[in-house]
Amino acid sequence: METQTETRTASRTLRSEQETEALGARLAAQLTAGTIVFLYGDLGAGKTTLVRGLLRALGVTGTVKSPTYTLVEPYRTPRLVVNHFDLYRLRDPYELEEMGIRDYLQGEAVCLVEWPARGHPVLKDCDLAITLSAGSSPGERIAHLQARSARGAAIVDAL
Ligand SMILES: Nc1ncnc2c1ncn2[C@@H]1O[C@H](COP(=O)(O)OP(=O)(O)OP(=O)(O)O)[C@@H](O)[C@H]1O
Ligand SMILES: [Mg+2]
Repeated sequence: METQTETRTASRTLRSEQETEALGARLAAQLTAGTIVFLYGDLGAGKTTLVRGLLRALGVTGTVKSPTYTLVEPYRTPRLVVNHFDLYRLRDPYELEEMGIRDYLQGEAVCLVEWPARGHPVLKDCDLAITLSAGSSPGERIAHLQARSARGAAIVDAL
């Protein structure tokens, strides 16, 4: 029976920070212009760690940290432009309209969004949702990947 793209999921156990970065690097290889990824998980779950691995794989050498106060940090890499959002401190989702979120989302750039629920309903859906949660030891995390579009399904299949 054919699997629906909407229900395409996968889980990975990440036994160290390095394994989380490595998942980010594998994800980097599957990204195409305009891909939108939502990153769910509590404070310290490893969202930025995954983004760091992803950006390093695309050639970013400088610091990669959550853009908590500025809400978004753009990175120009040789292959792709990547906008890294952290909406934790967003007080009102309509602030996203003021910052021109539609231009960010409709363009060619890849968008990676930490705390995406803070942007609802201005922020609509993504191609791929990744939820990071605690594992069975302090250094372990579980990544749950869920495709929310055909493009997302292709990424889940390839990872
Ligand atoms: N397997 C793991 N994967 C990722 N991080 C891990 C892992 N094990 C331990 N850690 C630690 O957990 C922390 C993850 O921090 P990170 O900034 O990536 O979280 P975050 O989800 O982006 O949090 P925030 O919501 O505050 O932005 C780091 O201190 C990292 O060293
Ligand atoms: Mg973060």
